[in-house]
Amino acid sequence: MSWSFRLAETTVKQTLEDSKMKTITSLLVLLLLSLPGVLRAQEKPNPAAGLALTPPMGWNSWNKFHCNVSDPLIRNMADAMVKSGMKDAGYEYIVIDDCWQVSRDKDGNIVADPQRFPNGIKAVADYVHSLGLKFGIYSDAGEKTCEGRPGSRGHQFQDALEYAKWGVDYLKYDWCHTNKTQDAPTSYLTMRQALNATGRPIVLSICEWGTAKPWLWGAEVGGNLWRTTGDISDHWAGRKKWSDGSCCSNGMLDILDLQVGLASYAGPGHWNDPDMLEVGNGGMTDTESRSHFSLWAILAAPLIAGNDLRDMRPEIHDILTNKEVIAVDQDALGREGERVAKQGDLEVWAKQQQDGSRAVVLLNRGASEQGITVTWQELGYPDHLSAAVRDLWQHKDLGKFTGKFSASVVSHGVVMITVRP
Ligand code: GLA
Repeated sequence: MSWSFRLAETTVKQTLEDSKMKTITSLLVLLLLSLPGVLRAQEKPNPAAGLALTPPMGWNSWNKFHCNVSDPLIRNMADAMVKSGMKDAGYEYIVIDDCWQVSRDKDGNIVADPQRFPNGIKAVADYVHSLGLKFGIYSDAGEKTCEGRPGSRGHQFQDALEYAKWGVDYLKYDWCHTNKTQDAPTSYLTMRQALNATGRPIVLSICEWGTAKPWLWGAEVGGNLWRTTGDISDHWAGRKKWSDGSCCSNGMLDILDLQVGLASYAGPGHWNDPDMLEVGNGGMTDTESRSHFSLWAILAAPLIAGNDLRDMRPEIHDILTNKEVIAVDQDALGREGERVAKQGDLEVWAKQQQDGSRAVVLLNRGASEQGITVTWQELGYPDHLSAAVRDLWQHKDLGKFTGKFSASVVSHGVVMITVRP
């Protein structure tokens, strides 16, 4: 190899080394420059993390009061929630549903009804917070709400900022007047992003009636609960078409039947929502109301009361504040219960609890009193197991049982127990 060739080779090598060094140096500089951004992004906590680790509990204005909402009504309900012992039993959110809003101002800000909320929404939220409760509000992913009030489409970030300023802790976000091409997951994700951009932890309640199967995408877009069905109506059973011919308002049992197969989608932070409670609204007997409440608890459903809390008969009060039944709903494992047996009108629903026990509802949908048996096998236990059974409505230990438990259940009633090995 000639001297001149060697020299040329060395120069080429040197040039290559230099350019490698330059590339490495540029990369290092880039990395250093972007580090603060990376660190900031890592530091920024997700404000929605840790919300609704158990199903949300509270009160909402819609089922009883519809559009008849006002500042004094909401304050009265918050007072009643405390005085009635419901707050102590775990109820937390006071939520104003549709009709609090009337228009937008020239800058596009949402305007609350000045007659019904003369002090504005923040004053109501402050009052609710002063009682140690949380405050929720309602909007819609379309142009208008179901009652024709302004919806949030095109104003999501602006509305979220306003809610955060007011101290909103919970948003129920409806699906009326959306346009035909609007994509549900994207619409709910946009609102979740808008809520998170405020930095305030706000529960997102997806109210899309199960149309686009929100159990498949609700958690992914940051929903904490999602309605699985159309609206509940205050009766035991029987679907009725809406006045425009579309389907349907559901009785309590119709909604129950629509929950079958959805249990695996629920868990801490993200719940199937079979709609708000009708307990105390007059359309069901006390026996039926007890069944409604027991079934919602076994479903790990959000427990959102929808009755007039100022005016409860003792029977209704005792249903809504049964701490043993509420404990089943709120069990930290966050398992939704399932129907494990059905024979005609007789059903067994069971829910695994954190301590390995099972909560069980024996449901009689029929017209006369009947005996119902739950076997340990149906609960996933071996036959020979001896387990303590406790009745959650009688508040009574019933003793130890092996292999099965039977009880007589009145028409439209339940027996609700825990089975603890
Ligand atoms: C829809 C919802 C209801 C209620 C009304 C209010 O029907 O499903 O729960 O919020 O709108 O207009």
